[in-house]
Amino acid sequence: MLKSLLLNLSSSSWARRIIMGWSFSRRAASRFVAGDVLTDAIKVIRRLNATGLLVTLDHLGENVTKFEEASAAARDYIEILNQIEVTGVKSNISIKLTQLGLNIDFEGCLDNLRRIARKAAESGILVRIDIEDSQTVDQTWLSFRTLKDEGLTNIGLAIQSYLYRSQEDARALLAEGARFRLCKGAYKESADVAFPRKADVDANYDSLTEILINSAIAAGAEPAAPDGRYPPVAAIATHDPKRISFARKHADRIGFPKHALEFQMLHGIRNDLQIMLAEEGYPVRVYVPFGTEWYPYLMRRLAERPANLWFFLSHLLRY
Ligand code: FDA
Repeated sequence: MLKSLLLNLSSSSWARRIIMGWSFSRRAASRFVAGDVLTDAIKVIRRLNATGLLVTLDHLGENVTKFEEASAAARDYIEILNQIEVTGVKSNISIKLTQLGLNIDFEGCLDNLRRIARKAAESGILVRIDIEDSQTVDQTWLSFRTLKDEGLTNIGLAIQSYLYRSQEDARALLAEGARFRLCKGAYKESADVAFPRKADVDANYDSLTEILINSAIAAGAEPAAPDGRYPPVAAIATHDPKRISFARKHADRIGFPKHALEFQMLHGIRNDLQIMLAEEGYPVRVYVPFGTEWYPYLMRRLAERPANLWFFLSHLLRY
């Protein structure tokens, strides 16, 4: 109920205006968001790298309504790639297709993605496409396939265990050489397309974990690149200790090496677990968002965990 309300608010423009107008909201968001500008994010990446963690950098923004904004986002990402190269930080990038204009002009969005992927390819960096609401899934797979056919193989995908279709999609795309970040799914979806019960989402997560790891071992269990730019085929993105334990046990059972099993978590959540897994020898990548468009990202983080709402409101009380 509360989750549903918060997810509805995440796409509401009036709620956005009000909540972004409260200065304590920005302070609350800073738990999850590295800062407003790229230099803030680079500082955070350096700190994380120093503790053995890799990063994927996200310039916040989604569902843009003017194509100029989409083109500006693509230009920003090209500058981000420049800075990753110049500073030598261990990071790749994550992008959202609706930030690159997916809802306005598919061909234009594809062209923005193409320019980013070409630039990233020059430095051996993977571009991970975040997966958004279920309406965007077909076009996301189409973007990957189109650019792969053009020779751009440095594009990674993400897949959501709450969608009924995901096992079928994962099998088909893995056979085409896709590499995946597996997550549970953060958007509001109907029971027509997504499991309504958390237990089913979790069970499907474990099944998808098996599919990903089995496919990665069949493909040679390629390790994560030491410079942090290229992840292995299977990336398990969750803070859920049971899902992490399942992935580890399955990998051990079939002799899948630690260096080929990447765990991913969000900046500001379970840093203790991130460090513990990295110390055990797994590649661990932290998703670090930065920028001023933090509102929908913050609302999704609040929706995932009701306790975060109290954390948010505590900033109001301190105000
Ligand atoms: P679950 O929600 O069951 O939480 C397990 C435990 O983790 C909780 O009990 C709590 O301890 C901790 N936890 C989880 N969320 C928390 C929060 N917000 N604050 C504090 N503690 C929290 N989704 C999507 O649809 N498309 C995408 O591309 C991505 N990308 C992505 C990248 C990475 C690196 C991660 C980790 C996650 C995503 N997600 C995503 C989000 C994902 O779908 C999901 O909503 C969240 O990860 C929360 O689910 P968990 O798997 O952590 O499990």
